[in-house]
Amino acid sequence: MARLQVRGIDVRFGGVTALRDVDVDASAGAITGLTGPNGAGKTTLVNVISGLRRPQAGTVVLDGNDITGLPPHRRARLGMARTFQRLDVFGSLTVRENILVAAEIRRRWSHDGINTRRVTDEVMSEVGLRSLSRERCDTLPTGLARLVEVARALATQPSLLLLDEPSSGLTEEETADLTGLLERLAQRDMAVLLVEHDIDLVMSVCETVHVLDCGQILAAGPPAEIQRDPAVRAAYLGPERGRVQETAGVSA
Ligand SMILES: Nc1ncnc2c1ncn2[C@@H]1O[C@H](COP(=O)(O)OP(=O)(O)OP(=O)(O)O)[C@@H](O)[C@H]1O
Ligand SMILES: [Mg+2]
Repeated sequence: MARLQVRGIDVRFGGVTALRDVDVDASAGAITGLTGPNGAGKTTLVNVISGLRRPQAGTVVLDGNDITGLPPHRRARLGMARTFQRLDVFGSLTVRENILVAAEIRRRWSHDGINTRRVTDEVMSEVGLRSLSRERCDTLPTGLARLVEVARALATQPSLLLLDEPSSGLTEEETADLTGLLERLAQRDMAVLLVEHDIDLVMSVCETVHVLDCGQILAAGPPAEIQRDPAVRAAYLGPERGRVQETAGVSA
């Protein structure tokens, strides 16, 4: 059974249907991709999974438990962490402080007596931020600030990590480092749901890819299958590909 099972999600904003009957699975030990053009509903789905948006229909199941009605902080305690498409670091805090805050919050709810300073140091090393630990986050370029956000999520020691366009604003080298990190996390049994515009990146690192288009799942399966899928080819990989990627590459 997949660690995360999302079933039949509908979300409407007034007259606009943002998601219709959406199913997504994310398994432990794997990177699962969610891709699709601007406005497809990717962030709305991450908000539904993390509890920031209540769906009109459907269920979110984590480790076999229906968590559809739980608020975000309860989901966090069950092992869910996320990053935001619009950066959400504490600008006036240092890199280290940003991560330490998350580790402290986790210790408070878990009562497991973890050494938060040690966890913070480990996470900084893991993500490659150690040399920047004393820098204020509002002085960092976007790419590094995104990594701080990922590190902060990791400091809560999640079993499910939701990343909403983490490579946006990253250089090619930073993106390669990030994908290496995600692969290591998956090797340690984490379930990673990677929301990403860049279809080439999704295809190269994900075990399973879900393609969302106008609020509906167009296709889901292993990258090789998705690449052959006629509906996906027509929408993204056909002769129009360059134009579609150009449009899709503009991040909100
Ligand atoms: N709070 C809201 N109120 C009204 N409409 C919304 C709201 N949030 C999202 N929408 C609409 O829902 C649809 C899906 O938006 P969403 O942000 O989930 O797409 P996305 O796939 O994340 O897009 P992007 O690639 O630009 O990040 C869009 O039509 C958007 O305008
Ligand atoms: Mg989005």
